[in-house]
Amino acid sequence: MIGAQWGDEGKGKITDLLSRSADVVVRYQGGVNAGHTVVVRDRTFKLHLIPSGILYPDTECIIGSGTVIDPQVLLDEIDQLDKLGIATGNLFISQTAHVTMPYHRLIDSASEDKRGDRKIGTTKRGIGPTYADKSERTGIRMIDLMDADNLRDQLHWAVSYKNAILEKLYGLPPLEPAGIIEQYLGYAERLRPHVVDSSLKINEAVRRRQNVLFEGAQGTLLDLDHGTYPYVTSSNPIAGGACIGAGVGPTIIDRVIGVAKAYTTRVGEGPFPTELHGEVGQLLGDRGAEFGTTTGRRRRCGWFDGVIGRYAVRINGLDCLAITKLDVLDELPEIKVCVAYELDGEACREFPSSARQFAKCQPVYKTLPGWQQSTADCRSLNDLPSQALDYLKFLAELMEIPIAIVSLGASRDQTIVVEDPIHGPKRALLNDNGAPV
Ligand code: IMP
Repeated sequence: MIGAQWGDEGKGKITDLLSRSADVVVRYQGGVNAGHTVVVRDRTFKLHLIPSGILYPDTECIIGSGTVIDPQVLLDEIDQLDKLGIATGNLFISQTAHVTMPYHRLIDSASEDKRGDRKIGTTKRGIGPTYADKSERTGIRMIDLMDADNLRDQLHWAVSYKNAILEKLYGLPPLEPAGIIEQYLGYAERLRPHVVDSSLKINEAVRRRQNVLFEGAQGTLLDLDHGTYPYVTSSNPIAGGACIGAGVGPTIIDRVIGVAKAYTTRVGEGPFPTELHGEVGQLLGDRGAEFGTTTGRRRRCGWFDGVIGRYAVRINGLDCLAITKLDVLDELPEIKVCVAYELDGEACREFPSSARQFAKCQPVYKTLPGWQQSTADCRSLNDLPSQALDYLKFLAELMEIPIAIVSLGASRDQTIVVEDPIHGPKRALLNDNGAPV
């Protein structure tokens, strides 16, 4: 299950729903930059690293090797769940996941400040610098954390190297390795029971023919290789990232579910052709409570963008869609959908790879009538106002894939499951014209 836009598509709720049919849920990339809000009755859970499958006692949750782990935040989440009486004995962490260190967070913040108007708008959680160390082959992995001598040795070297950067490049005070080593050895002791060979564990579950849900964080357009570079995160949220980040072969993935909001949001910098600056953008932000789970920043809002939608279908090989937050559009008299761009006077139907070109793209809209009534209590497609159903059909036709799930609010029951996306027939949930089967 992946995000088909710029993240924040409401994946937490959809993972929660799909976790009922999953024996194992795997996070395969990203770190504590992500934030999932799951509402179960009157309780709200905010999770950054732990998959929301943890709320089901029989579901195993695995944080895969493609993720980066901030142990302090992870332990805080474990403690938060423990306090609420939710067991975390079925949480497993890959021994080859990389660990976010205090210098990563400092460098993330300082480099953003130094970039001035070239800043990315990162979450300042040290994600980019942790992945940079991984690529530079100087990173510290969970398995290194488990071995005290090794950790001391690696951290002494790493801290002296990073201190040179902190002091000379950013004018910051140096870090003291001894304190960090003690702190991280403490984390290691608490996390040790959870640390496993995650690829082995996942592949064993597959061999037992269990259902494994791979849960992408962030979204397609934030992908390091295929997103709106350089305004992206430092990992691969797309479906292909699941194989690398979980350590499984592509042949074991049966189907790919994309999650998209009924409109579009983006946090951080970077081009966003359908962004709305006026009243409608404000209304979407207010009705959709569009504030980041991790940073609290207000999200930028705009109309649904079919060009990036189709791009997400292509890059991820999506089988079906979950459309979230349809209810946010309830009050609008008319709703626009971007069907193409205009770039330098020419029609452009494909997402351009250059951020400069993307920034120049003007959306070409199709306007659809709104329904101006509440959909929050609709529980089947038949309950929806005809304009809302037409809107969904239009999106399905534009993206050329069926819609399997429609979400109309934060709570578990505010959901229309058109067809079970795990067990249901592949690509047969809406017919070729986008009509429900
Ligand atoms: P980083 O992942 O903190 O390095 O941030 C890079 C870009 O990805 C910034 O534009 C962030 O706002 C964005 N980003 C990172 N994580 C999320 C997320 O979970 N949802 C939405 N945007 C995110």
